[in-house]
Amino acid sequence: MKFFIDTANLADITEAQDMGVLDGVTTNPSLMAKEGITGADNIIEHYKKICNAVDGHVSAEVISTDFEGMVAEGEKLAALNPQIVVKLPMIADGVKACKYFSDKGIKTNVTLVFSAGQALLAAKAGATYVSPFIGRLDDISTDGLGLIADIRLIYDNYGYETEILAASIRHVMHIIDCAKIGADVMTGPLSAIKGLLKHPLTDSGLAKFLEDYKKGN
Ligand code: G3P
Repeated sequence: MKFFIDTANLADITEAQDMGVLDGVTTNPSLMAKEGITGADNIIEHYKKICNAVDGHVSAEVISTDFEGMVAEGEKLAALNPQIVVKLPMIADGVKACKYFSDKGIKTNVTLVFSAGQALLAAKAGATYVSPFIGRLDDISTDGLGLIADIRLIYDNYGYETEILAASIRHVMHIIDCAKIGADVMTGPLSAIKGLLKHPLTDSGLAKFLEDYKKGN
């Protein structure tokens, strides 16, 4: 399972990269705004910094909602660095733009996916990644993990190579359950990634080992 970090915060990205477990980064306009990164030029510069901080894919989201605008923006983003994945919204023009980019060999991530039908469209358009938002479905009392399972089944039925990128991950159990279902990638905050480390028996066991080592020296 690939681990992406879902943030535009460079310190968090660097910390996850330094742990040695990071495979990429996802961002969106809200995450950029949260870090105070506003304006097209600043956002472009920030994408360059993120690419320099990590080895893997970096999803960079277009703001346009029409095909021509998405193509223009996506081509500019893709030209920044080979690590860039053009992130497109799940709307009709986004699907069309996804097909355009996949035909050109440019990597894509179709975002704001909330149904199996939308995920099927993304795969047919040749998306590199599809991003179902499981936390936001859970927020409205709908089974986010059930959607991941449905997409896994559909993609496996037909051999679609689009990678399921479980997004809107909120906590450790989302990661574990997505791994059990077979999501290809999860993207979540640093807190969820570091949460995987924690077990009280690890902490007490280590404390005892160190205590016993001191007794023998
Ligand atoms: O990757 C999608 C993500 O940024 C949305 O997360 O927590 O705002 O639903 P959240």
